[in-house]
Amino acid sequence: TDLFLPERRNSRGWDLAHRPTLAAVELARAPFVQTEWTAGPVLATEAPVAASHTVTNPANPEEIVGEVTFATADTVAAAVAAAQAWDADAAERRRILNAAADLYEENFGEIFALLAREAGKSVPDAVAELREAVDFLRYYASRADATPPQGRFACISPWNFPLAIFTGQISAALAAGNAVLAKPAEQTSLISARAVALLHEAGVPRAALQLLPGEGDVGAALTSNPGIDGVAFTGSTETAQLIHRAMAENLAPGAPLIAETGGLNAMIVDSTALPEQAVDAIVESAFQSAGQRCSALRCLYVQEDIAESFTEMLTGAMDALRLGAPWNLSTDVGPVIDDEARQGIASYIEAARAGGRLIKELPTPGRGHFVPPVLIRVNGIAEMEREIFGPVLHIATFKSSELDAVVDAINATGYGLTFGLQTRIDDRVQHVTDRIHAGNVYVNRNQIGAIVGSQPFGGEGMSGTGPKAGGPNYLPRFQRHDADNAAG
Ligand code: NAD
Ligand code: ALA
Repeated sequence: TDLFLPERRNSRGWDLAHRPTLAAVELARAPFVQTEWTAGPVLATEAPVAASHTVTNPANPEEIVGEVTFATADTVAAAVAAAQAWDADAAERRRILNAAADLYEENFGEIFALLAREAGKSVPDAVAELREAVDFLRYYASRADATPPQGRFACISPWNFPLAIFTGQISAALAAGNAVLAKPAEQTSLISARAVALLHEAGVPRAALQLLPGEGDVGAALTSNPGIDGVAFTGSTETAQLIHRAMAENLAPGAPLIAETGGLNAMIVDSTALPEQAVDAIVESAFQSAGQRCSALRCLYVQEDIAESFTEMLTGAMDALRLGAPWNLSTDVGPVIDDEARQGIASYIEAARAGGRLIKELPTPGRGHFVPPVLIRVNGIAEMEREIFGPVLHIATFKSSELDAVVDAINATGYGLTFGLQTRIDDRVQHVTDRIHAGNVYVNRNQIGAIVGSQPFGGEGMSGTGPKAGGPNYLPRFQRHDADNAAG
């Protein structure tokens, strides 16, 4: 029977176009619209912690969402010392992680409220995020087996998928039987604390899952602690480089680093593309989640022959976007995560305006950390030095004879996360997809929203170390295989 993976299905999710489902979601969310949550380190031992601070809603900074206490370097040291690998057999780990997935689904009202109020997630984003978190739990549970774990795994996650990526990392590490030390992003500690509470309620032992909320210094203390046997990190390329260095200096040689990082993602639209389909795909890829996806489209290349009419269609579609409060069904674009992010993106847009490169921008809603979607003209992707993590789309044109040069320029950035192609020429699909270096390539559709179990997600080059999350090669990196144990 062990020859086959147990049956597994992705979460059915919540269809908010179905009126009874929408009513049930609103009813379940209602008790949490004014809740003030608290969170802090969740440990298998006593340890000192830092002072607490208040968390506010990115769409309305006057609204208090909760209070968070951060870990310190001493908390980290105590937690690593108290960590114990999960000694349950694979069948028991599978059962408990599936039970946690059920608890996540049962607590949808509170989770949707938290995602909207702490992370600024719009309604469709919150629904997709909870589904993805549940899918990760069930997917990695289905792949648990008797292979030994690495030991103590640090899991360090970003704020942009505060439930899905947080859960994805720790569920893979736990399914493999590791002791997990989870360091969520400082901006989204409340969501991670709720997730950890549900995992403990399902039966994950405390010594196998401890939570260390905090800023980068807490992550740095973890990744330089010699008691750590492996690190799963998702976040910026710059932080991954710091972690790589810290691990090389402090951890045992061979401790794995699974890093999923940023991108400079491009899409090519040629003159045979279906314009309506391409515009829809571009608007979703660049502006959904306020552009705060690692997979988001950053640089669009449109064939010169159609560029004028296509740009007009695109800016028209941008006009139809509605910015606003996250939990509002008519909102397309919510806030960015905090004021620091808003200011950074706004100053980038100002520089483009000053340079006469701003083609289109939308009005800003009054309060909250909002950045209206913009379109900026560039000559090519080489002009973009870094990832701008917000609703900022760049547009360049190319001549038919320049197609290979465009693909080469995209490859030359050194990033390789997502790539999109819109064309109706079959040979071109083959030619371009063979030439491009990107982890996830999408043809004639949007380039965000990979599905656990059917579209493993992850980049190459500066975008990640592989293996892809939500695919069969991910969980084995959290295990010790024969080569890891070989003498010498
Ligand atoms: P970030 O790199 O600033 O932070 C990520 C995490 O690392 C946080 O928990 C942070 O506290 C921690 N950290 C910061 N400094 C550290 C250090 N020196 N040592 C250890 N940990 C440290 O990233 P972010 O702003 O939270 O997230 C946005 C970034 O994440 C973007 O670049 C985005 O492209 C990337 N991302 C990538 C993927 C992917 O799958 N490839 C998915 C989501 C986000
Ligand atoms: N997995 C996320 C996506 O595909 C980042 O958009």
